[in-house]
Amino acid sequence: MSKPLLFGRARLNALVTALVFGFAVAPAAAATLTMACDSIGHGNTVCKEGVKAWERKSGHTVKILSLPASSSERLVMYRQLLASQSPLLDVLTIDIVWPGILAESLLDLSAPAAASIKEHFPAIVKNNTVGGRLIAMPWFIDAGLLYYRKDLLEKYQQRVPGTWAELAATARLIQDAERSAGRPRMWGYVWQGKPYEGLTCDALEWIVSYGGGSIVEPSGAVTVDNPATIAALRMAKQWIGAISPPSVVSAREEESRAMFQDGNAVFLRNWPYVWAVVNAPDSAVRNKVGIAVLPRGPHGAVGTTLGGHQLAVSKFSRNSALAIDLVMFMTGRDEQKRRAILLGRSPTIGSLYQDPQLLAINPYQEILRAAAASATPRPSTVTGRKYEQVSAEVWKTVSGVLAEGKDPATGVKALASTLNAMHSGAAW
Ligand code: GLC
Repeated sequence: MSKPLLFGRARLNALVTALVFGFAVAPAAAATLTMACDSIGHGNTVCKEGVKAWERKSGHTVKILSLPASSSERLVMYRQLLASQSPLLDVLTIDIVWPGILAESLLDLSAPAAASIKEHFPAIVKNNTVGGRLIAMPWFIDAGLLYYRKDLLEKYQQRVPGTWAELAATARLIQDAERSAGRPRMWGYVWQGKPYEGLTCDALEWIVSYGGGSIVEPSGAVTVDNPATIAALRMAKQWIGAISPPSVVSAREEESRAMFQDGNAVFLRNWPYVWAVVNAPDSAVRNKVGIAVLPRGPHGAVGTTLGGHQLAVSKFSRNSALAIDLVMFMTGRDEQKRRAILLGRSPTIGSLYQDPQLLAINPYQEILRAAAASATPRPSTVTGRKYEQVSAEVWKTVSGVLAEGKDPATGVKALASTLNAMHSGAAW
């Protein structure tokens, strides 16, 4: 018996075209694309599995490019590749705050996405639309969350804190008791304090919860110099050495997650991906973790920063039709559901949050959905191309307060004048 011939869809299409039109066309050679994937937690492995499924479907190959762990470093890498019009990268994973920065180097996906885009959260679609062009497909959404040790709260008969003041008190109480019980490395609260994009996210949450606005408002006005913002920064400064380790000022998502996962912290601020990692078989805190909204500020407001990633196609790709097909596959419903199950990545397709399989795996789906729906965007749409610089000024100022002992009032005053010098009126 002869061996059956296996064709990927693209090769089959080429063959069908030849048969239908009655002329001999050699099947298109299999192409090799390059994609920059998700790289945090178990993200790389799960992204590769999705890519493998597309390879089987299409008959083409995808090389995965490793990305630096820090969002800010990734942006630098992309800018270099795109500025040199490099065809080396076809599909890019882009941060929710980058559309304004990278739009010119990315293809418009409006036509291929015409049917599916309606399923995604409208706010993200709007975020990814620059000058009427849909420059990236929504892939997953992030919102800042509070992770807590269920077992420790129970042991010390404490409730999940609803305010920052309660968080500080509970963190202190459990940290001190655990240290006395022979766990000297225990800390109360870990978060992202390194000067990079993640610090802008954490700082925005403190500021919003204090009623201090959102640094630069959607109108373009710079509002960062106000007493509520100063008080919010003061609060975070006071945590260091008291409930947060001094090393928090150099922690990104993964360093803070590791401290918590090793069992050395009561509370952690992080994104939804942490759920799958802390519940993995090798985790010291497996089945001991709960998720809550971040604590409220002194007047009852909650600040949760909106994050997330999109998939985009480089204008310099030599295989753009295939790259678009890969993006549509990777951001589609089935793949988003698979990623939510395996990775805990929150979908950008709203209806998936009621999916029984997802609810069974992470009972906190409603908290995730509500956090995503109410999250505060960073000022990336209004500041557009200048966002990278704006955010760098923000994280430098905040880091100055946290790590170098600078006065918050002086810091935000200087920040406001730097930001004001970057724009004229409402135009950025
Ligand atoms: C997460 C968010 C992203 C944010 C980054 C900061 O990856 O999805 O939006 O910029 O964290 O570190």
